[in-house]
Amino acid sequence: MQYGYFDDNAREYVITRPDTPYPWINYLGCEDFYGLFSNTSGGYCFYRDARMLRLTRYRYNNVPADSGGRYFYLRDGSAGGGGGDVWTPSWMPMKSELSRYECRHGMGYSRISSARNGLAFSQVSFVPLHDTCEIHKITLTNESNIDKRIDMFSFIEFCLWNANDDMTNFQRNFSIGEVEIEGSRIYHKTEYRERRNHYAVWAVNVPIDGFDTDRQTFLGLYNGFDHPQAVFDGEAKNSVASGWAPVGSHHIKARLAPGESKTFVFVLGYCENPEDQKWEKQGIINKKPANKLLEKYGTPDAADEAFAALNEYWKALLGRFTVDAEDKKMARMAGIWNQYQCMVTFNMSRSASYFESGIGRGMGFRDSNQDLLGFVHLVPERARARILDIAATQFPDGSAYHQYQPLTKRGNNEIGSGFNDDPLWLICGVAAYIKETGDYGILEEKVPFDNNEALADTLFIHLKRSFDYTVTHTGPHGLPLIGRADWNDCLNLNCFSKTPGESFQTTANFESGIAESVLIAAIFAFTGPDYVEICRRTGRGDEAQYAEKAIATMTEAVNNHGWDGGWFLRAYDAHGKKIGSRECEDGKIFIESNGFAVMAGIGLKDGRAQKALDSVKEHLDTKYGIVLLQPAYKDYHIELGEVSSYPPGYKENAGIFCHNNPWVTIGETVLGRGNRAFETYTKICPAYREDDSDLRRMEPYVYAQMVAGKDAVRHGEAKNSWLTGTAAWTFVSISQYILGVRPVFDGLLIDPCVPSNMKNYTVTRHFRGADYHIMVDNSAGVEKGIKSIMVDGNPHNGAVLPVFGDNKAHNIIVTMGK
Ligand code: GLC
Ligand code: GLC
Repeated sequence: MQYGYFDDNAREYVITRPDTPYPWINYLGCEDFYGLFSNTSGGYCFYRDARMLRLTRYRYNNVPADSGGRYFYLRDGSAGGGGGDVWTPSWMPMKSELSRYECRHGMGYSRISSARNGLAFSQVSFVPLHDTCEIHKITLTNESNIDKRIDMFSFIEFCLWNANDDMTNFQRNFSIGEVEIEGSRIYHKTEYRERRNHYAVWAVNVPIDGFDTDRQTFLGLYNGFDHPQAVFDGEAKNSVASGWAPVGSHHIKARLAPGESKTFVFVLGYCENPEDQKWEKQGIINKKPANKLLEKYGTPDAADEAFAALNEYWKALLGRFTVDAEDKKMARMAGIWNQYQCMVTFNMSRSASYFESGIGRGMGFRDSNQDLLGFVHLVPERARARILDIAATQFPDGSAYHQYQPLTKRGNNEIGSGFNDDPLWLICGVAAYIKETGDYGILEEKVPFDNNEALADTLFIHLKRSFDYTVTHTGPHGLPLIGRADWNDCLNLNCFSKTPGESFQTTANFESGIAESVLIAAIFAFTGPDYVEICRRTGRGDEAQYAEKAIATMTEAVNNHGWDGGWFLRAYDAHGKKIGSRECEDGKIFIESNGFAVMAGIGLKDGRAQKALDSVKEHLDTKYGIVLLQPAYKDYHIELGEVSSYPPGYKENAGIFCHNNPWVTIGETVLGRGNRAFETYTKICPAYREDDSDLRRMEPYVYAQMVAGKDAVRHGEAKNSWLTGTAAWTFVSISQYILGVRPVFDGLLIDPCVPSNMKNYTVTRHFRGADYHIMVDNSAGVEKGIKSIMVDGNPHNGAVLPVFGDNKAHNIIVTMGK
């Protein structure tokens, strides 16, 4: 069943009933202020860091699901009309019956419209560019033919800033809550008296008829959000919070004649003062920054203007890569939603979603480098800054902090380093950046090691240390040592954990020093050639030669010790035993090493590459995507770690871990098998499963990290939507390898590998200061191969389009054929 539809012209997903199989969310904000916003107005917001500076409270894993958000309660007190009827126009939290309901999730905004008993409600929610607030523009329209007397109550619950402390430290927190109320403005100032110099403001642009700031007074102690006492009484209590739980609620009495509309602009803002200007007078906060913000958004017109500017911003951004094709599902995912998701992963990394609590993981070294592959074409300058931040958390020996904190940009000591794939992703990210921009200058930037300026060296040296780390950390078969884990965080071959709760990633109880990863070898063989090119192009010929030799040696090691007869092995464990081999009882074949080895071109000449992907298809493929391994581990294996801790079919234990599926897709394009490449692309692509939402459950417009595998009861059910490396890699697979518009060092390579029934399509691509309008004609119905390329009306030799850099649009016609 479907719960909505795509409106591609508006770049929106339109949800047509509120009771979606899971809250379907959107992200507001693209700079410093962010909000998570569900289709029933649930969620929360924060300034920069979801853990440290959270403005509103949200209870994860709550019952009922998704309670807590920015709510508006309506009470119809009209004579002969509502008679005290109370409802929530966003459906939740009262699960109100509505005569109309629609939620449109767009690029950085959401819009909820509904109606009940002749009163229409509309809410447009967004974070304006360059300001630190959410705007909620509310319009009430009387669609009935009698006068309406409506009471509207806004409602948010403040978080006491540190989201972790807020949910645990009640002995303190119940005594520290403080607010100020001034006219229609409610200020949340907990801890401002001491070490904070920031407060939140929740305001509306019209005079109010009452307010509440104490949760218990507003709701009633034993009531839920679905039965606020003040609303049912039809009267705010003007409560002033003192400790306990500060909230913000405005009461507005609106009289509406038949046909009349009224619009209100609510603003939820974050404000900061300089240390020496915190107070207006003792105990009274300096409201200047709030005044400035609220004056700016004091009218519906001003809100509309900010909204239009936001739309322009997204239009320009997504205009850098567009797709037009007969297959609308592919076109809307590649052209709109996949890129949008890539921007969200850029902003959030793995911090805040409906599956990531915002208090856990920071930015991952490997995750951030891979995310970059999906947004570098959209925001190259910000990608550059991100690379320098990431590289600064590398250690002098080339290894890296596995995670770092976004606010401090410092490595996270709790998890440390030792994930031996990490260094190589830096090469991968930097190469993608240079191919996109041609900016070799970045290599000469001085970047600290371990955040220590005294240890700074050029970014090029960082790459060299990355490369050398792999070269110098190999095991008995000449394959890279795995360390704590490689890309698969759950393959913990040195861990041997028996203690519940102990981290599989940071515990090392049995380091024989010989556990090796075939995947890291393949990643090395894939990214190594980029390192060689970078050396060559910057006059480092000797280094290029050395690197080429190292890659050849590694490839040989894979060929000699990483092949199992029908597919590539996954690893050797701490006893030197094979993992991912037909000799194993469970876990005979894994996806990652096979996808990546073929991406790297290993086994292309001797047929192994083809055989490997045929085996993947035979053993790992399902209707909903390719599972990570087979057979699933039935028991816990102490020598393998977390991978075997999951019940069969979930997560790394034979779930469809979507992140690695595009590696197979890309591998298939390397083999020239466009039909199969596209099949693997569509299976995990959410738009193709829109009418299967009851099973899939997650948003049909974004990728999920995992879909339950064939060993799981709910095979096909997705979890962990939004913050996943799947976004970047699927975008790479569809844009660069299937549609075949791929940035390379010298220009834009045209190399489509499509299903034979994809007859023609158009891609527009902004690239190094020019627009490439690329029309691909595949009336020949081939899967790969180019017959001719015309550039601005002239025949073009070779498949690499030049760098025009002339701020002009260029017409490219590509004819596929044998
Ligand atoms: C998660 C992690 C990522 C890892 C993957 C596989 O998505 O964020 O770093 O590669 O799991 O374990
Ligand atoms: C868990 C997850 C994995 C994630 C890791 C992060 O192991 O299963 O997906 O990457 O935690 O440390």
